[in-house]
Amino acid sequence: MPRMHVKPYDWIAVVIAVGWFASGGCGKDSEGEGPTAKSEPPAVAQKRPAGHDAADLAGKFPPLAALPEVPVPADNPMTPEKVELGRLLFFENRLSGDIEFSCASCHDPARGWGDEEEISTGYPGTRHWRNSQTVVNSAYLQKLFWGGEATSLEAQAKSAITGNLAGNGEPALIEERLAQIPEYVRRFQEAFGVDRPRFPLVLKAIATFERAEVISRDSAFDRYMRGDKSAMSESALRGKALFEGKAGCIQCHNGPLLSDENFHNLGVPKNPFFERDSFAQIALRYQHYIRGVPEEIYRAADHDMGLYYTTKRLEDQGKFRTPPLRYLPYSFPYMHDGVFLVLEEVIDFYDQGGGDDPGKSPLLKPLGLTDEEKQDLVEFLNSLAGSELIIARPELPPYVATEI
Ligand code: HEC
Ligand code: HEC
Repeated sequence: MPRMHVKPYDWIAVVIAVGWFASGGCGKDSEGEGPTAKSEPPAVAQKRPAGHDAADLAGKFPPLAALPEVPVPADNPMTPEKVELGRLLFFENRLSGDIEFSCASCHDPARGWGDEEEISTGYPGTRHWRNSQTVVNSAYLQKLFWGGEATSLEAQAKSAITGNLAGNGEPALIEERLAQIPEYVRRFQEAFGVDRPRFPLVLKAIATFERAEVISRDSAFDRYMRGDKSAMSESALRGKALFEGKAGCIQCHNGPLLSDENFHNLGVPKNPFFERDSFAQIALRYQHYIRGVPEEIYRAADHDMGLYYTTKRLEDQGKFRTPPLRYLPYSFPYMHDGVFLVLEEVIDFYDQGGGDDPGKSPLLKPLGLTDEEKQDLVEFLNSLAGSELIIARPELPPYVATEI
């Protein structure tokens, strides 16, 4: 079935979201809204601050632009043999501990190259603790993961394959498995000139595949920015002006990637999933432990601390890397904890000035957006996505000896 920008259950979510915000949203007092009228919404929207001043923001940030060609690192040049090998390995379940999990298990091309879960599914017996990001256009990023913990696709793939909550694979065992698969022995030979499969080359091949094929740069926005002035609708263009002006999004979502690749605390509400799911709770506490959080914080902390894990500076708590925005209609739910199911919820969140957190970024403030303006922003976000990138699951080569 073709996937649509508006998912069948979007409306249910919108209804829920409207109810949620009407009841005070993320526990925030409805500041300045006065006594609520019984039936119609209070007429105080106009009294709210009117967002950002477009003239103040103009020229201060890297301008929005079409995506260039993908960068290729000098130590891992692109070749057709590597791309082919990497495509197989992306779908290869025998890279995981229990041979059940491949990259595609959590980054399914048919589910936006994520897994459509709020909190990602985890290795059997575990749950993940963050939302599974789309892999589309990851090849452009210098900082990967919600907390920016990895700095190359190769390093990222290593932690995905060996991480206890993801692949839980053991490099030496993986090499032995691949060496028992004649087609892989041949393909590693052709791609890298080696006589047997090597784990670091697994990472290089997967990264090459992501750079070559998991790219989307044909969106209406990209075409518009390359000169096709009819590519974007009037509404999307109004949304673009809001994005760069009144709504202030450009302060962080800027340049060709629509990300400053910097870290900000938006006060994203904690997903109630953590209260309902012991596995997610275990994963959260486990992460605190393995990332060396001091004991007093470990005991008290009940939320993802983001950039803090890397810097151990308290002011970095709750800061996450600004995500690029190119594939949103396909890569819901949104935010590091998948707490928002639809883009309308994200826009409402920003319209309120973000969430409730003492460390919240001073760049966020109530925006006073009208319903039409919110719709225009959603149109703009949709215009950033090209057509859906579907890749057929390849047939995986067999072991040399017959499997039982
Ligand atoms: C068990 C589920 C799971 C598996 C298996 C998995 N991932 Fe992920 N992936 C995630 C989650 C969850 C995140 C976000 C994690 C974080 O921020 O800490 C992520 C993040 C990423 C990112 C970063 C995207 C960005 O915007 O920064 C890339 C790239 C990626 N995965 C590729 C892979 C590859 C390649 C494999 C296979 C080698 C793989 N993943 C296996 C769940 C998974
Ligand atoms: C202060 C910097 C900042 C500003 C301003 C900002 N964003 Fe973001 N945006 C972020 C960060 C950081 C995240 C991830 C936050 C998290 O997961 O906790 C994010 C997440 C998002 C997401 C979810 C993406 C995904 O893949 O899950 C969308 C959509 C989004 N922003 C759109 C906007 C729009 C539209 C505006 C303007 C109304 C805006 N942002 C303003 C920094 C910012």
